[in-house]
Amino acid sequence: MNFIKWTPELSLDHTLIDEQHQNLFKIVNQLIENINIDQEFIKKTLIDLKKYSEQHFEEEEAILAERNYPGLEDHKFEHRFFIRRITRFCKEVVEENQELSEKMLEFLADWVKHHTFEEDQDYKKYL
Ligand SMILES: [Fe+2]
Ligand SMILES: [Fe+2]
Repeated sequence: MNFIKWTPELSLDHTLIDEQHQNLFKIVNQLIENINIDQEFIKKTLIDLKKYSEQHFEEEEAILAERNYPGLEDHKFEHRFFIRRITRFCKEVVEENQELSEKMLEFLADWVKHHTFEEDQDYKKYL
């Protein structure tokens, strides 16, 4: 599986959000690097991704609320969709000790990439 790459074109010219997006990409890449290699590391990193996404979404939503971003409700809906999925994956992988499948990881990587490339770009002019 290919790593996902944060590039300067993705910058939202907001230091905190850009830094959080880069960290999200980094955690996803750690999963890609270690899938099928180290199950304990995968479990720990999946939990990290869940916590970090929750924290990032919360902070992003607070910033957007402050700027009166009109697309905020739809944006929150997207975030909640991801959290529901990753919560289910965490339950399966961490509690039920199933392997993180390529398909699950592909979903996570594609979602993070797509969301940062598309939906997050949509609020740039409101920052
Ligand atoms: Fe977002
Ligand atoms: Fe974001």
